[in-house]
Amino acid sequence: MTVSKHDPQDLDPIEIASRDEITAVQVGRMKRALTRAYENVPHYKAKFDAHGVHPDDFHSLEDLKKFPFSTKEDLRVTYPYGLFASPMSDIVRLHASSGTTGKPTVVAYTKGDIDVWAQVMARSIRAAGGTRNDMVHVSYGYGLFTGGLGAHYGAERLGATVIPMSGGQTEKQVQLIRDFRPTIIMVTPSYMLALADEMERTGLTKEECSLEVGIFGAEPWTEEMRSTIEERVGIQAVDIYGLSEIVGPGVSVECIETKDGLHIWEDHFYPEIINPDTGEPVADGELGELVFTTLSKEAQPIIRYRTRDLTRLLPGTARTMRRMEKVTGRTDDMLIIRGVNVFPSQIEELILKDDRFAPHYQLEVHKEGPLDKLTVNVESRAPADESAAAAMAKDLTHHIKSLIGISAKVQIRPEGAVERSMGKAKRVVDHR
Ligand code: DLL
Repeated sequence: MTVSKHDPQDLDPIEIASRDEITAVQVGRMKRALTRAYENVPHYKAKFDAHGVHPDDFHSLEDLKKFPFSTKEDLRVTYPYGLFASPMSDIVRLHASSGTTGKPTVVAYTKGDIDVWAQVMARSIRAAGGTRNDMVHVSYGYGLFTGGLGAHYGAERLGATVIPMSGGQTEKQVQLIRDFRPTIIMVTPSYMLALADEMERTGLTKEECSLEVGIFGAEPWTEEMRSTIEERVGIQAVDIYGLSEIVGPGVSVECIETKDGLHIWEDHFYPEIINPDTGEPVADGELGELVFTTLSKEAQPIIRYRTRDLTRLLPGTARTMRRMEKVTGRTDDMLIIRGVNVFPSQIEELILKDDRFAPHYQLEVHKEGPLDKLTVNVESRAPADESAAAAMAKDLTHHIKSLIGISAKVQIRPEGAVERSMGKAKRVVDHR
């Protein structure tokens, strides 16, 4: 596989277009997206009208801030089909993501939408170093979740050979990796760890393992997790981001030559960062909540969608399109423990810095009287006797206290005791 840079002629011309060219594409498409939403989706018309704004008020990207945001609530109140801008006869696929509360979020695609999605996914796999000579093992779940089919169509579009394994059947996954010799794996980073454990158990060493690149996403993961996976499996780990409401995976991806944040395919997905408390856009470089507007989506245009993901926008490097910093938290998975804001990723960072711990952990939050109590369940890498476990727990408690500022109870669990995910890991169990 070519891990080095692709020749510029291999890329879509827009990937290396000038900022002016990108802006021109965005302005034209944005106008059409706003108009399409307004004219075909009564829910958007009502919202724009109530906000006193009309697609004719859009002249430049600066004007976007006049338009109202959308949130998961808009999808919920219009469930299942109320946000569709195309007749069902033009819709060729539905996906859905299970919300934490009740009804799933439904998303729709026309033939054209599937085509764009395959294109941005092909670009993403290519940015991660993939070519038509690669074999891509897809362990993201196939089904209502967008991960499996998104990766699948992208790899096929690139001309690579796809193994549509889906999630689960861990032993079989490793058998196929051993026998079929794929060069790229696409999977959640947490499930990659379960696969790595199985590789180790069955004696598939990193020297023998054919994998060269992993394209990991669908959940937050830290730089420490990247080093852990790269070291254990002997691959390069690249981050891919996306969400069903916008398209699925392939909204942004890291380029293998820089691994310095995720290039957003800005010709299809227009990003903004806002202050989550005031809703005001902030300048590039500042941290805030990521907001996306779809620029080419036909079946379900989404205007100014508040993702809840926290990041910042950075200038392009390996591509001219802007980057977003690795997302390590969402506004809604932030725990507030006795007034201190804590993200699971901060705890992950501390766990992975200490070799005595395995990278499997889960946080539990209880109420004890009026107070919130945090328990960190984490596995030890090697069997630990009572005194070794006590020493590990003491050290981690100390680091959490001194670096994050909260008192946590650390429970050292034996190997396999922390629940493994087949897809997105459940990092927090909230008993409150
Ligand atoms: O997780 C789509 C996807 C599939 C992305 C496969 C990448 C790979 P949803 O199930 O709708 O879609 O969940 C979207 O997952 O808002 C983020 O909070 C989180 N997320 C996705 N990718 C990343 C990532 C898919 N690379 C939600 N880093 C998003 C951090 C991520 N969080």
